[in-house]
This record gives sequence, structure tokens and C-alpha cells, in this order.
Amino acid sequence: MSLTARDTALRELMDDPDCDPERLRATLRRFDTVNRLVSGWGGVYTRRIRPFLAGLGRPARVLDLGCGGGDVIVRLARMAARDGIPAGWVGADPDARAIEVAAERDAPASVRFTRADSTAILAAGERFDLVVSNHVLHHLDTAALVSFTADSRALATGLVLHGDIARSRLAYALYAAGITPLQRGTFLRTDGLRSIRRSHTPAELQRILDAESPRTWRVATPAPFRLLAESRPGFETAHRAEGGSSD
Ligand SMILES: C[S@@+](CC[C@H](N)C(=O)[O-])C[C@H]1O[C@@H](n2cnc3c(N)ncnc32)[C@H](O)[C@@H]1O
Repeated sequence: MSLTARDTALRELMDDPDCDPERLRATLRRFDTVNRLVSGWGGVYTRRIRPFLAGLGRPARVLDLGCGGGDVIVRLARMAARDGIPAGWVGADPDARAIEVAAERDAPASVRFTRADSTAILAAGERFDLVVSNHVLHHLDTAALVSFTADSRALATGLVLHGDIARSRLAYALYAAGITPLQRGTFLRTDGLRSIRRSHTPAELQRILDAESPRTWRVATPAPFRLLAESRPGFETAHRAEGGSSD
């Protein structure tokens, strides 16, 4: 199989509204373990989120867009609490099945979950110091990705971080082998492999985000097989003030 180009025709099993509800719940719950193993938010918290939140000098508001089963925002909230950083955390997802699983999670009182997509939260007038997402970008076609990331910038007054998979043959081979002990009763094997085939390379994602808003996004590879798209609202204005072009 070729991973030279994104395979956007592939649909993940969990995106089927009629998929087996028990397998879906098991998948959403087990994302906790998979995300801890592969998604690198520990390092992103230490290097980017902790300094940003601590530097605010006041309680922060943080939004996880497309929070799924809620494990990433709960983990970030616990890490910040351990560091004595005060914040209110919101996990948002338009899928009622995901929010149901998230709401059952043992979460600190500073975390709440809401059933809404990025556009609805923006329209409600909510704003956040930090907006994050994990494993959402590869789910979206290019038009939806552009609208999702534009929403995320409009929602954030400080920092946006979107974490995702970087497509590669090696990531595919390692995931296929590594997921075996965790896959039972879930969609993790099929959907994980489809996710890798749907995901971007750093250069592909940078090109799409440059089209969304020029000189606004920086796509980094903070860990093996990972992408991190970062935007700090105001960056484009600062760039212009320094004499850069905004084409
Ligand atoms: C693979 S799941 C990732 C879940 C979770 N972030 C994780 O890492 O386990 C992608 C999620 O993005 C959500 N999503 C898609 N479009 C969205 C949008 N415009 N705003 C918020 N969430 C969205 C979907 O409902 C889905 O639950």
C-alpha cells in the first residue's frame, strides 16, 4: 500500500452514526491509553503550555476542540494543577456519544464538557487563552480543516495548538504491530490505521494552513510521527509591523 498521498476516501468506523455503540464506547475510553503512548502531550505541556499558562499571571481558560472521550483535557488539567497553575478547562465535541463518555470520566472540578462544534462555540461569543485539539485535523477534508483552524484562531486570544499524526510508512508499520494488545473490543486497529493513511505530512499541513492564513501557522514535529500546528494570534500583525509581507 502507498502512503505517498493522503487517502481521504477512507472513513473511520467510529464516524458512522450507526456503528456498534459498545465498541465505540470502548474505543473512546481506550483513547486514554493510546493518547498517552503516542500523542506526546506531556512534552507539549512542558515545553509550550506550562510556560504560556504560567506567564499569564491569572487563571486561564482552555478549550479542547473535538475532545472525544475527554482524556487529553483531563490530563492537561491534572498536570497544570500539579504545577499550581489555576485554569478552567472546557472539552467540546459535537458528537453526543463522545460527550457522554467524557462526562463519565473522573475529572477535576475545573473541567467541564459541552456538546458543540467550533463554529457554535465561536457564535456563542466564548473566548479562550489557549485552544488545543488532538487527532481532529486528519478527520477533516481540506475545506473543513480550513474552517476548523480559522475558528480555533478566532476562539483563542493567546495560543492555538493542534496535535496530530504525521503520515509515514514507519508510523503505519509500528502502529499495526503495537496496537495488537489494546485493540480487543474496539475500533482502534482499523481506525488507527485509517487515521494514519488520512493524516498529513508536515509540508502538506503547512501548505493548507498557509492558505488558511498566511504567515500565521507553524507546523513542527515535536516527537516521532507527530505534527503540532501552532498559532499565536497577533503573530501576523507583529510580522507586518516588522516589515514582513502578508501575502
Ligand atoms: C478522532 S476524534 C479525536 C478525539 C480526541 N480529541 C482524542 O484525541 O481522542 C475527532 C473528534 O473531532 C470532532 N470534531 C470534528 N469536527 C469538529 C468541529 N468543527 N468542532 C469540534 N469538534 C469536531 C469529532 O466529533 C470527533 O469526536
